[in-house]
Amino acid sequence: MCGIVGFVGREEAAPILLDGLSRLEYRGYDSAGIAVYGEAEGLQVVKAKGRLQVLNDLVQGGKTVHGTLGLGHTRWATHGEPSDVNSHPQVSENGRFAVVHNGIIENYVELREFLQSEGVRFVSQTDTEVVAQLLEYYYDGDILDAVVKMLGRIQGAYALGIVCADCPDRLIAARKDSPLILGYGDGAHYLASDVTALIKYTREVCYLDDGEIAELTADHLWVYDAYLRPVEKERHHVDWEISAAEKGGYEHFMAKEIMEQPKAFRDTIFPRIQQGRVVLDDLQIGREELEGLDKLYIIACGSSYHVGVAAKYTLERLLRKPVEVTLASEFRYCEPIVTERTMALVISQSGETIDTLAAMREAKRLGARVLSIVNVVGSTIARESDDVLYTWAGPEIAVATTKAYSTQLALIYLIGLYFADLLGTISREEYGRIVDELLLIPTKLEQILENRKDIQYFASIYFNHPSVFFIGRNIDYAVGLEGSLKLKEISYIHSEAYAAGELKHGTISLIEPGTLVVALAGYSQLFEKTMSNVVEVKSRGADVLGLTVASKAEDMAKTTDHTIVIPDTHPMLLPSLEVVPMQLFAYYVALQRGCDIDKPRNLAKSVTVE
Ligand code: F6R
Repeated sequence: MCGIVGFVGREEAAPILLDGLSRLEYRGYDSAGIAVYGEAEGLQVVKAKGRLQVLNDLVQGGKTVHGTLGLGHTRWATHGEPSDVNSHPQVSENGRFAVVHNGIIENYVELREFLQSEGVRFVSQTDTEVVAQLLEYYYDGDILDAVVKMLGRIQGAYALGIVCADCPDRLIAARKDSPLILGYGDGAHYLASDVTALIKYTREVCYLDDGEIAELTADHLWVYDAYLRPVEKERHHVDWEISAAEKGGYEHFMAKEIMEQPKAFRDTIFPRIQQGRVVLDDLQIGREELEGLDKLYIIACGSSYHVGVAAKYTLERLLRKPVEVTLASEFRYCEPIVTERTMALVISQSGETIDTLAAMREAKRLGARVLSIVNVVGSTIARESDDVLYTWAGPEIAVATTKAYSTQLALIYLIGLYFADLLGTISREEYGRIVDELLLIPTKLEQILENRKDIQYFASIYFNHPSVFFIGRNIDYAVGLEGSLKLKEISYIHSEAYAAGELKHGTISLIEPGTLVVALAGYSQLFEKTMSNVVEVKSRGADVLGLTVASKAEDMAKTTDHTIVIPDTHPMLLPSLEVVPMQLFAYYVALQRGCDIDKPRNLAKSVTVE
């Protein structure tokens, strides 16, 4: 949600900033802008509503900006409509300060009124402009002093990049509740919302913590606490490959990331299975503590929440302990029953989703032990958890998640097996059966992906259906939730997911000739039950696209219009195979409809506002 980037060094800043923004554009694409300081030119700001390409065209088409220090921003609009004037960088009235910001300044109205009463004139509707104007208001020749005073006035979440025309050799950065990473280069330093913007230039980074302020010049990087006392930062080496953040010949990141799933699954699972046993060395929790737990709370948003829904079925079955799945945005406000005997299992690809982070902090405050499943190493959720297990999916760029979802599920299986083994709630035989099947999943995923032309064909038949229902029972229902979300978010078709048995309690009134129902019935134990619901919708005129395992395909095809067939597997692992055709279906439908697949309207990856 908004991406920021900064560079100070000896090379021209603009190409580095624009390149960095191209890798952050998935965080928001309502507008983009840069501010560069040049010795002769002073502070130059170029910004425009629209995709980054609009800014690129401006910069290349004559609005040349020179200088070796600057900031860039790609915006997901919160306060103030997408427009040139509301784009970042926001500049103070006399042009001395330029600011880029990711987050929300919650008390901006009050601050704006205060500054206006002091004679300051505002030009934008953004909350960020108050930051630039406050800096100017407090500035008396000492930039850090002005920054501290400004931070003392603002409330909310922020990752800030600041440049001051009076100190043209340095960038200032500050953070609270929005991610900010600093990069160490050769005679250069960088800042960015996300490592993907930096890995082309440096792999040596540190993570700014809440309340910290950084000062960057070409040769030095200082970090201070809120009282300007120096802070020693630990350096981290990032081992993501730059190619992982590029399309590599695919038309869309989403297609590439779907195809990467067998590898991502392997990378997440294989190193953690040794001689047929699940080994989670990263976990500190022992048998006694586990036995003492009376409840698991799964906290997540969006697709990560859908992993949680599947996880509830899996973990309750394996652990015989109650598992409650809750949307992170609801958790804080529902007076959750959390004690020292609760484990909070927090699932987040980005590790920065503000709702999830806030819910996690609340769970911790109430005494829960937090285990998180996170993809981005060093992200806030990862750093604040008691235990973290990383999904080794590599960078996920497409806004619609695919490989992160799959690797999150993979970790759920491992956690389930590992805990069940510790608790003694699984037999040796069943444990062995699941592990054996787990190791086969990547190959089965490859088979599904090889047959993707079938799904493309089904998409070509159904892409014009105005309304789609996904139905299924048990874990099939959990996958339906994700299939439905994938479809609506990238193809803009209205769709809903229903537990198949629930449809007749109201929603079936929406089924009419031509409605598409995607029926998931891979879960053999409930196959007949789901099929009777398929017959119900069929007899009301619905077109039915079914999905089941090879051993049930013939049976299903007797009732459905078309059937997607996946390999058989252990029932617990079905979601991993079922979700891929659902992702492909959404992808091909969106392709047919000419949608902007990697950057769906109104969305952004990494939602850092509430
Ligand atoms: C949908 C999607 C979102 C995210 C959600 C949580 O395709 O990607 O629903 O799953 O915003 O994000 P993370 O997992 O980063 O916390």
